[in-house]
Amino acid sequence: MIKPKIILGIETSCDETSASVIKAEGDRVQLLSNIVASSAELQSKYGGIIPEQAAREQLKSIIPVIQEALSQAFPLYPKPYTPIDAIAVTQGPGLIGSLLVGVETAKVLATIWQKPLVPVHHLMGHFYANWIDNSPSFPAIGLLISGGHTDLVLLQGHGKYRYLGGTRDDAAGECFDKCARLLGLPYPGGPMIAKLAKEGNPKAFNLPRPMIHSDDFDFSFSGLKTAVVNTVQNYPNPSEQFTKDLSASLEAAIVDVLVKKTIAAAKKYNIEHILVAGGVAANQTLTECLARVAKTAHPVLKLFIPPPNLCTDNAAYIATAAYFNFNPLDPSKLQANPNLSLA
Ligand code: KG4
Ligand code: ZN
Repeated sequence: MIKPKIILGIETSCDETSASVIKAEGDRVQLLSNIVASSAELQSKYGGIIPEQAAREQLKSIIPVIQEALSQAFPLYPKPYTPIDAIAVTQGPGLIGSLLVGVETAKVLATIWQKPLVPVHHLMGHFYANWIDNSPSFPAIGLLISGGHTDLVLLQGHGKYRYLGGTRDDAAGECFDKCARLLGLPYPGGPMIAKLAKEGNPKAFNLPRPMIHSDDFDFSFSGLKTAVVNTVQNYPNPSEQFTKDLSASLEAAIVDVLVKKTIAAAKKYNIEHILVAGGVAANQTLTECLARVAKTAHPVLKLFIPPPNLCTDNAAYIATAAYFNFNPLDPSKLQANPNLSLA
């Protein structure tokens, strides 16, 4: 089958509604448009995501978001025609109501336009942000750090990987979000903690680095969250500087664990490329620390980190993943699957 050149991607796994058009040739992927509408501001009022509310917002924005992605990609849209070769959509994991919005829309478009429909695993999809305007090669160590997942995988080829380990409880992003909530900060907490951490002392509080010395590639962040709960309880009248110092100390603890395990995996499997993906990869302290440690650990280790806007959920990496893993499915057979995992 000839690989399609122009792919429309659709992503609605959590609280974002995103549509993107990519143009691909050989190993080169170019972004023609990437529109993301988020209900995070609304969710922020409630301190986290209310699944039904997220899906309702996605129902409102899915059509305008797709229209905007098409009109940015094709100046003549909607006339004379829209040269889409295939449609890619996030199949799972995620919130079922949210996933259904994207999957059912993609099925309708694929059926009406008579175009191939490619389901994409959201977590594998995240890694493909590294292929947009770039060309990593295999084998590579993949670190996925998002709101719901923290996983290390050995990427052996497109669609071929070995699971090395993951979190046994909370994900790294979840730990940022839950601790931010404890500190009275809005959702999503990661970006806010990162901002405050810049003015805080990362050594102010001696927080645990759970499982940092364990002889495996698993993680655990719920104990760290408990340590933050205990610290907050010991300071009933926290100052602004307290919040900044605790943010910096929390960020440092999460970064230390993620960096140590990722470099250990690269060393163990003698891998020269590391691919980071997921919303937490937008964290600058993490990426700087990883680059520093990688350089001293192994001079040829090459680090791939997507730009921050491609780290968080968006349809550009979904379309890119579909291009490199082109396995279309009959629209009538595609079903959203909230429980997909990498393990
Ligand atoms: O990948 P993503 O957009 O959505 C999921 O698939 O989960 O990741 C969202 C997560 C949230 O937990 C958010 O707090 C975190 O990524 N995040 C960050 C930063 N930007 C987003 N965490 C730390 N530092 C950041 N700059
Ligand atoms: Zn995600």
